[in-house]
Amino acid sequence: MNKKIAVLPGDGVGPEVAAQGKRILEAIAKKYKHVFTYEEGLIGACAIDKTGVPLPDETLEICKKSDAILFGAIGDPKYDTNPTLTVRPEQGLLKLRKELGLYANIRPITTYKPLYEKSPLKERVLEGVDFIVVRELTGGIYFGEKGRKNNRETAYDICSYSKNEITRIAHVAFQLAQKRKKKVTLVDKANVLETSRLWREAVDEIAKKYTDIALEKMFVDNASMQLIKRPSSFDVILTENMFGDILTDEASVITGSIGMLPSASIGENAALYEPIHGSFPKAAGLNSANPIGTILSIAMMFENSFKAPKEAKIIRNAVNSVLESGMGTKDIIDNDSVGTKELTDQILKYIERS
Ligand code: IPM
Ligand code: MG
Repeated sequence: MNKKIAVLPGDGVGPEVAAQGKRILEAIAKKYKHVFTYEEGLIGACAIDKTGVPLPDETLEICKKSDAILFGAIGDPKYDTNPTLTVRPEQGLLKLRKELGLYANIRPITTYKPLYEKSPLKERVLEGVDFIVVRELTGGIYFGEKGRKNNRETAYDICSYSKNEITRIAHVAFQLAQKRKKKVTLVDKANVLETSRLWREAVDEIAKKYTDIALEKMFVDNASMQLIKRPSSFDVILTENMFGDILTDEASVITGSIGMLPSASIGENAALYEPIHGSFPKAAGLNSANPIGTILSIAMMFENSFKAPKEAKIIRNAVNSVLESGMGTKDIIDNDSVGTKELTDQILKYIERS
């Protein structure tokens, strides 16, 4: 295959992990005789510093022309401490999602035996955990009308969803469940919110077309508890934008390190792959960030965008085998941890050998 990949390294540890991601792509290209061409774009705080805006038009164009997007991370502490700033790195990512119509955010959560010790949960709770959160990504309260009134003494963020926005992501969740344990859990707050009641209506209708799938419904407050009490009982969790944002951070601690977790954000004509750990500014430039979140995101890229399950599998096997050998960055290994680049070296070795 011949593919154009947009690379948006972004801020903090983003450039380091994206660089390791490119090494993995090149190893796979060599092994399977694929040709990948890369074009880099600015996004986030580094884009604000250089151009004044968090998502320059040029970056958006690079993304639109590409077959897939590899994303590092965005965010910088100088913006976090000042909520009154009107230009912020996060706006770059939100705009990119909206402009490219990346409505389905897919975040798989699995546990790894060698990392059980790193999880705050007990081993018996961790066994068999393997679920996917399907988060709606371009609607809801993050994109609704927001503002101030009454002399700026009242603020509002409107949460709204159309039926169409719900059904298109519901299909994604049900189709994923068909390839897995055949269960969808719709997480909402239908006892309080009108949008949640529409979600239930719309998802119930879709469920009729997927008679092989068991649909369960759970209020978000309860779901946040069940995720920790019995994470192995979930298969596909379907939820709206803000609930998904919160629950996926919660879910990330189950694995033992947020550095392990990949994600895909998928739309009709574009797809973006991104580790979920964020920019982690304190570790920037130290060669200590865990590259596995990015590397597993690339496995998702092969599976979803390039329809290349063999390539995805070899990447996942390589990660598993390196973890089993006891190697890892310092977020997952206490003694004798290795750096970002060195951990990737081992994963590359496995890919080349197998
Ligand atoms: C995420 C992040 C983003 C979000 C931020 C950076 C806007 O937390 O991808 O989960 O809230 O969606
Ligand atoms: Mg988040």
